[in-house]
Amino acid sequence: MGGRIGKHKLRCIVCGSEYGPAPIHWCGECGGLLEVVMELPKRSIFVKIRGRRWFVWRYRELLPVDREDCIVSLYEGGTRLLGLGEFNGLSVYVKVEGDNPTGSFKDRGMTVGVSKAVEFGFNKVACASTGNTSASLAAYAARAGLEAFVFLPRGKVARGKLFQAIAYGAKIIEVDGSFDDALRTVVNHVKEGAGAYLLNSVNPYRLEGQKTLAYEVYEQLGSVPDYVFVPVGNAGNISAIWKGFKELRDMDLIDSVPVMVGVQARGAAPLVDMYRGDGVFRPVENPETIATAIRIGNPVNWRKAWSAVSESGGWFLSVSDGEIVRAQLELARRFGILVEPASASAYAGFLKDIDKLDGTVVIVTTGHGLKDPDVLSYWDLQGLV
Ligand SMILES: Cc1ncc(COP(=O)(O)O)c(C=O)c1O
Ligand SMILES: [Zn+2]
Repeated sequence: MGGRIGKHKLRCIVCGSEYGPAPIHWCGECGGLLEVVMELPKRSIFVKIRGRRWFVWRYRELLPVDREDCIVSLYEGGTRLLGLGEFNGLSVYVKVEGDNPTGSFKDRGMTVGVSKAVEFGFNKVACASTGNTSASLAAYAARAGLEAFVFLPRGKVARGKLFQAIAYGAKIIEVDGSFDDALRTVVNHVKEGAGAYLLNSVNPYRLEGQKTLAYEVYEQLGSVPDYVFVPVGNAGNISAIWKGFKELRDMDLIDSVPVMVGVQARGAAPLVDMYRGDGVFRPVENPETIATAIRIGNPVNWRKAWSAVSESGGWFLSVSDGEIVRAQLELARRFGILVEPASASAYAGFLKDIDKLDGTVVIVTTGHGLKDPDVLSYWDLQGLV
């Protein structure tokens, strides 16, 4: 590929301790999560970038990879930004992340995460997943010739996603309980020395790939929107997208940053409870929603997401399962965009708060509708079809 590689270090988001590039996830001093701090290139890098192929690695100088020969790609990113036309006096766009190789935004992160696994010399990778992470990990591991281990909450993963993980050859470990239990299990597994590189969104490198959505929106609109609506589960994606916008600002490419709005499903909304309540984070014990991808009660990235929303002047809101599926069908029938229920929650949140908005809005739809055809019976139950 040529060109300069992305110089970086790791920093604890809680105590600020700094580390060199390494396959670590938590701070050795305080146990906090880490973030990547990039040595950002000059803004003129975007002149070069504009001439390149439309995929995640067009931003390679902004990504924390030390060895370009280790890059594992399926040509992810470069997804459509579809206009919905004039909408209550607003300019509204949908970022269609279902366009990615395995049908979700996870591929943006996984291309970087699996490249780092190769660079660090791992031959095994692992994750817990509500489904999409496992599908993505399995595909990138196959591409790289690595063994993939995916820990799934038994009976709680949409069929299309399980089908993908099996097809790409991942080893599947079913865990009784919720996603949060599956994540605890995989974390113990890797801490006990299983020799696998953990690629959940506790992985700071994976989130770097996901920040490229912000760069793409900036390039596609020629500016940044006023608001970005994002579905929130484990809360990594909203944090990553926010980081992308902040980096554009730090490179002096933009003057203002968007307001970030995090949307959770009503039965799995600890960040909404925190926002509406006393500002203290409390996990939800038994998360429940039709939107299985965001059926998460204890989001590991709550601190990062809280900062993203507060620093941007945004907010969190929740939507009911009924609102989610109605929004899902409206996107499909009015605009020809079929997304999975978790992704429709962002559109449902937008519809709910539409009167608060002004200017340009981007709604991030995170996964393809084909992932979860079983939702049809819920549409039926709700009398929608
Ligand atoms: C389709 C979809 N939307 C949203 C999310 C939530 O993303 P995050 O966990 O980064 O908040 C997920 C996570 O699995 C997902 O698969
Ligand atoms: Zn720390």
